[in-house]
Amino acid sequence: MHSKLLFFCLLIPSTLSSPPNIIIMLMDDMGWGDVGVNGNWAKETPNIDKMAAEGMLFMDFYTANPLCSPSRAALMTGRLPIRNGFYSTNAHARNAYTPQTLVNGIHEYEELLPKLLKQADYKSKIIGKWHLGHRRQFLPCNRGFDEFFGSGNCHFGPFDDEKTPNIPVYKNDKMVGRYYTNFTIFKGTGESNISQIFLAEGLSFIETQSVSKNPFFLYWTPDATHDPNYASPMFHGKSIRGRYGDAVMEMDYCVGKILEKLKELKIEQNTFVFFTSDNGAATYRRRDGGDNGPFLCGKETTYEGGMREPGIAWWPGSIPAGTITHQLGNIMDLFTTSLTLAGVKPPQDRIIDGIDLSPVLLDQRAPIIDRPIWYYRGNEMMAVRVGAYKAHYWMWTEFGNDPLKFTFCRGQYIQNVTVHDQINNTEQPILFNVNRDPGEKYIVSPKSREYKTAMAIIDPIVKAHKEALEPGVPSLNYCDVAVQNWAPPGCEELNYCLPVPESNPKLCVWDH
Ligand SMILES: *[C@@H]1O[C@H](CO)[C@@H](O)[C@H](O)[C@H]1NC(C)=O
Ligand SMILES: *[C@@H]1O[C@H](CO)[C@@H](O)[C@H](O)[C@H]1NC(C)=O
Ligand SMILES: *[C@@H]1O[C@H](CO)[C@@H](O)[C@H](O)[C@H]1NC(C)=O
Ligand SMILES: *[C@@H]1O[C@H](CO)[C@@H](O)[C@H](O)[C@H]1NC(C)=O
Repeated sequence: MHSKLLFFCLLIPSTLSSPPNIIIMLMDDMGWGDVGVNGNWAKETPNIDKMAAEGMLFMDFYTANPLCSPSRAALMTGRLPIRNGFYSTNAHARNAYTPQTLVNGIHEYEELLPKLLKQADYKSKIIGKWHLGHRRQFLPCNRGFDEFFGSGNCHFGPFDDEKTPNIPVYKNDKMVGRYYTNFTIFKGTGESNISQIFLAEGLSFIETQSVSKNPFFLYWTPDATHDPNYASPMFHGKSIRGRYGDAVMEMDYCVGKILEKLKELKIEQNTFVFFTSDNGAATYRRRDGGDNGPFLCGKETTYEGGMREPGIAWWPGSIPAGTITHQLGNIMDLFTTSLTLAGVKPPQDRIIDGIDLSPVLLDQRAPIIDRPIWYYRGNEMMAVRVGAYKAHYWMWTEFGNDPLKFTFCRGQYIQNVTVHDQINNTEQPILFNVNRDPGEKYIVSPKSREYKTAMAIIDPIVKAHKEALEPGVPSLNYCDVAVQNWAPPGCEELNYCLPVPESNPKLCVWDH
């Protein structure tokens, strides 16, 4: 332990004197199998593939929840949604998120990454989708970010501005217009220039910061790969996969431009970049969604397709080029790793689930760090992965009885695994070896010695986790039409405030 620590310090002396800039590139609903380097046949991602060739590719990287908002809350806090409050108790095992009727947002008590990075003088900006609460007090600039360009919600719409307001787009703490009415998205054709606007915002932030003596943190989280997909004229109609692929191509272009900018400014050796996605591809979109590679099911589920994500780390000169790791990683680790690289101590007064990946990132020969991966769906721990083994304590695919409407497991059926009803396997968890069987197709027989050996390791880890767990106050329980984006900060200047209807708070309905 002691010698390992010493070795680590010797490896990154420069980091300690001048912490690196940090860029987290978070894609929306992009699947593990959407990037060329993970085997996608459409080959839309030459720049992302090059990023992997120049950096480290994580084969076993996970999100903390199979839906956008809780996964983003986990990234910003380093904590499981069950702890940070981004879950619901309205119904069992539901994935809740942040629609514009949501009353609450990320708790005041939670310490967010940009705020903590302030301790090391980082200047921070978020570009794209925030999703941790759209009301004034929850917006990024009130929760630790210096700058914001994007939106509190997803780019759903167009709405009529009467029953439902269109979603505002913010510059810092004021809205500068709304999606569809001011920031054009042609839903019929899938054309929009918004990804290019996000890119320009990112490049100009990097340029401005590069001349400053302070390090920067850029959280770049464009949402063109989320339904309804869009792309600008340069990419529109260019992919063999259609609109979704067009959006992936544009994301890839943006990744290339950002890395190119770092090189042009000669700050690439002092910038840690990580590329990943918030959850698995939306398989319920059938032919229109993304690709989860060899993995079972997709977004909304706790099968591998819902939670295993592309993961690429890039930091020329510090992270060895062309390397591949089987370290189990999680989006929450980006919180802890970023703080470590910045020389900031993670909060000590609460449980942090993210681990520091820097030993693995900076030294290819470093041993794999043992850690569990938790698969939660709302208030229920559905599964856990320990080493090669994944044990499902609960299973559930979709809701409703129309198999054509919501197929979270698009075209995949595994007997006793892709189950329509919530099944409690706690008595005898369903076990897979996801190294040999990544598609979760072949159940390890409960009678086998392999099962008994694996469960003897997993059971105590689960028991300890449950005993120590103090669920946070749920933030995603209440909805109200009055809290929608009728009159966001800045609407007066634009003369674009809408009349606020009477408040009518209700429990949100979460089917999925
Ligand atoms: C934004 O769109 C609304 C609705 O179409 C319009 O009234 C307003 O003038 C637009 N604002 C700007 C700044 O373009
Ligand atoms: C996108 O920008 C191009 C070039 O400026 C312009 O011709 C086009 O109309 C824009 N499209 C949308 C949907 O705003
Ligand atoms: C698996 O499914 C079959 C067919 O529905 C059923 O007979 C069997 O009991 C199931 N096995 C388990 C372990 O649930
Ligand atoms: C699930 O099964 C376990 C073990 O049989 C039981 O203790 C637990 O109460 C069940 N949970 C629910 C919500 O039914």
